[in-house]
Amino acid sequence: MRPRQTRVLTVDRSHPEPGAIAEAAALLKAGGLVVFPTETVYGLGAHALDAAAVAAIFEAKGRPSTDPLIVHIRGAADMDALVRDVPNIAVRLAERFWPGPLTLILPKRDVVPGQVTAGLDTVAVRVPAHPVARLLLEVAGVPVAAPSANLFSRPSPTRASHVLADLDGRVDMVLDAGPTDVGIESTVLDLTTVPPLVRRPGGVSIESLRTLIPDVAMGRHVAADDAAQTSPGQLLRHYAPRARLTLVEGEPLAVCRRVCDEVRARAMAGVIVGVLAPEEDVLRLRPELEAPGSSARVHLRAYGSRRDPQAAARELFDALRAVDAEGVGEILAVAPEARGIGAAIHDRLVRAAEGRRIDA
Ligand code: TXA
Ligand code: MG
Repeated sequence: MRPRQTRVLTVDRSHPEPGAIAEAAALLKAGGLVVFPTETVYGLGAHALDAAAVAAIFEAKGRPSTDPLIVHIRGAADMDALVRDVPNIAVRLAERFWPGPLTLILPKRDVVPGQVTAGLDTVAVRVPAHPVARLLLEVAGVPVAAPSANLFSRPSPTRASHVLADLDGRVDMVLDAGPTDVGIESTVLDLTTVPPLVRRPGGVSIESLRTLIPDVAMGRHVAADDAAQTSPGQLLRHYAPRARLTLVEGEPLAVCRRVCDEVRARAMAGVIVGVLAPEEDVLRLRPELEAPGSSARVHLRAYGSRRDPQAAARELFDALRAVDAEGVGEILAVAPEARGIGAAIHDRLVRAAEGRRIDA
């Protein structure tokens, strides 16, 4: 891969500087790679109708070319140029949830290069809500293909520092507008199936989709080696930290007891454990595990709280990267209740754990 000089431009999140946006837009139109913030996570963008630029995304991320990309557009009116038949339900979903963290899978037009869709005859589209993303799309005037701006199978980036840790020297520009709001990727909804399927839970909850699509159903995780998968982002191994991660599930009190036991058992074996859990759980664990004389060696890291799952979603990937950076031998993770955005948090942790769970 040819190395790239990565320029970082700091932009105001609510009133992005026109000069910086114009430079980024020009780069995109010329086939460059531009990382930009969306309300969910940072995206690694390229001109979606430029097959060579799109191919460079896969190279920069080390992403298999079998995993299709989301195309970011200015508004619902842009769907017609990319989508063969826009069904009425897509228009209604767009009115309700766009701009916002909902991606729709629809039949594609020929103009969309096969590189974008991994050869599928469908295309994923979404209208991001972040002011920087919106202005960039407006000024560039082209649809922008963008996966999350992380190396393949690393946690998604919610800050420019995460992007640079993975992609410095691999992209042309990073627009840094600070931490993102939602913190977890968009919900991917497949409208080409009957009933429609949620292929990835995300920023828009399945409960709120149900108000427009009462029979919407959940897709399944597929095995990492299943070549015939329909949504490769459903790979079980994804969002993985370097340290081996295990998800601990059950009633909050039982979970805390079990985490304590597991941390102590691993300490006996000389393993330092990182614990990633909502604030309430960390407060419960701290006196147990960090008491003077405790033999456990542990890094406790809170993300959000059980009362505030939105905050948990916003902080999850940063916390995951931070606890991993402590150099722990293993990570035990606890998730808030799997409802609303909690379902998306749960999904990301199951994948980070590659399916490893302990039932407390
Ligand atoms: O919030 C987000 O969605 C972020 C921001 C940057 O917009 N993007 C993102 O992209 O998370 P990425 O590439 O990391 O995830 C895209 C997901 C993958 O699970 C992919 O398999 C699925 O969308 N996808 C894309 N096109 C598809 C298609 N035609 N059929 C089925 N799944 C598709
Ligand atoms: Mg991703």
